[in-house]
Amino acid sequence: MRYITILLLAICILMPSTAWSGKYKLEHNAIATIELPKPVLSSDFSIEKVLSERRSVRSYTDEPVTLKEVSQLLWSAYGITYTREGLPDFIRGGFKTAPSAGARYPLEIYLVAGNVKGLLPGIYWYVPEGHVIHRLTDGDVRSDLMAACLSQKFAGDAPVSIVWSAVYERCTEKYGERGRERYVCMDLGHSAQNVYLQCGSLGLGTCAIGAFSDDALKKLIGMTEEEVPLYVMPVGRLPREHKK
Ligand SMILES: Cc1cc2nc3c(=O)[nH]c(=O)nc-3n(C[C@H](O)[C@H](O)[C@H](O)COP(=O)(O)O)c2cc1C
Repeated sequence: MRYITILLLAICILMPSTAWSGKYKLEHNAIATIELPKPVLSSDFSIEKVLSERRSVRSYTDEPVTLKEVSQLLWSAYGITYTREGLPDFIRGGFKTAPSAGARYPLEIYLVAGNVKGLLPGIYWYVPEGHVIHRLTDGDVRSDLMAACLSQKFAGDAPVSIVWSAVYERCTEKYGERGRERYVCMDLGHSAQNVYLQCGSLGLGTCAIGAFSDDALKKLIGMTEEEVPLYVMPVGRLPREHKK
């Protein structure tokens, strides 16, 4: 009887983490995994200068961006900045560069790479744990991205775009409708603003895109059923007229 009680107790303790795993860890078939260069943690650019100069930029030069820059941008969006043993599953590896209501971290981040030095064109999925990207599909799909973004030209021109989705359930299971109506998009804004500011400090240009076809973007990226596509940020080198 004592053993049965212990067994039942163990099952009760283990049950939630098993049930959570699908929600917190997405499954994607990856062709390859690329370890990103370590992010740089200092710069000569002050936060005040970046804030005062930040603008949405919708035209870029034809030059590629580098893998180092891509690494820095993804880290700014959702990189892990603090971790320790025993954190709950929903934190997914650690606390990140962007704040998140209840540390539920509902966001997922993808990269549409077309012209990145040191990276094959394709669609990549960023995993903050380990600071890696998984290549999900090969090929330059920037014209498809532009079509999904209601033909906004700069989405097709930019050497690279960052795409956000959210798994709302990570947030709503704790906060219900308040999580759906407020917190997920607040989290998104924090992460996206980090990218705006990181672009400023790297001398790159970007512009947030909220106008796109949900179905087309979701299909293009290969998002899972539970994800909702939320934002696209094309990134490229500043043309002469934007340089200070
Ligand atoms: C939620 C959101 C959605 C946006 N969607 C688009 C978009 O689809 N296309 C676009 O060109 N700009 C888009 N923008 C950029 C705004 O047009 C831009 O931020 C605004 O004109 C202010 O300019 P600034 O960012 O240079 O200060 C979006 C901005 C936000 C915050």
